[in-house]
Amino acid sequence: MKKVVRKAVFPVAGMGTRFLPATKANPKEMLPVVDKPLIQYAVEEAVAAGIEVMVFITGRSKRAISDHFDKAYELENELTLRGKEETLKIVQNIVPPNVTCVHIRQAEALGLGHAVGRAKAVIGDEPFAVLLADDLIDDDADGCLHQMTKVFEEWQCSILGVERIDPSETQSYGIVRSNSIGNSLGRVEEIVEKPRPDKAPSNLAVVGRYILTPGIFDKLEQVTRGAGGEIQLTDAIAMLLKDEPVLSHEFHGRRYDCGSKLGYLIATVEQGLKHPELRDGFKDYLSNLVLD
Ligand code: G1P
Repeated sequence: MKKVVRKAVFPVAGMGTRFLPATKANPKEMLPVVDKPLIQYAVEEAVAAGIEVMVFITGRSKRAISDHFDKAYELENELTLRGKEETLKIVQNIVPPNVTCVHIRQAEALGLGHAVGRAKAVIGDEPFAVLLADDLIDDDADGCLHQMTKVFEEWQCSILGVERIDPSETQSYGIVRSNSIGNSLGRVEEIVEKPRPDKAPSNLAVVGRYILTPGIFDKLEQVTRGAGGEIQLTDAIAMLLKDEPVLSHEFHGRRYDCGSKLGYLIATVEQGLKHPELRDGFKDYLSNLVLD
């Protein structure tokens, strides 16, 4: 019987050092782009792909994330008393009722691979998605993860969301070498975490979207500390692809690197220009600003 991806893991325990002091007491995944926190964009993308169980790998000082996806009794009560129906709906419908949120505390932040490994007990023997909220991916027609779950339906193997990057930026990404099998798909032959440009096997970078088979958990238990002294998901995928096929999928959509200040600002401007309430006023403001 064909397997279906029902669960997604959101590693959210990182310290967000690039955004200090904004992230001193507030998780970086709660930084808003216009009026929604980054993590909500990722969760909405997962909901649109049919995911029903959201597994957050959290850490100390990340309580705001569990609160965000929980019921807010006092706030809902206040909004009801004040007759703010529309706002109440926004607050109540952050995730649809069929979605379950699970929060796992990662005691030590030992890297992305370590974080994903913490989800094993909840994922069990199923394929699952991993979404990194830092990478906000916008596609009006079809969300990135949904594009990938459709590929999974057909191929039933691990899939990595990839994008061509400027060759000078390979040290910020997992880089793959893959053999094209058509339709934006390739079979991954090699994957390396953050290689120097002169050592990179290509300029095809893994961005924060993965569909993985449960075989990854055994590999995660075997990998030792890699780039940056961390347990790298990339290194476990490198082991996995020796045993089973792993595909790369060049997704459609606009990706914003919200892990960097510039990427975050670009996301804010472009999403502001798409926002139904703001776009006209914001566009006027920007045109005048540029003309000045
Ligand atoms: C992580 C992964 C890397 C991937 C990147 C995508 O790196 O380790 O392989 O390309 O996410 O955003 P990080 O950005 O957490 O350093």
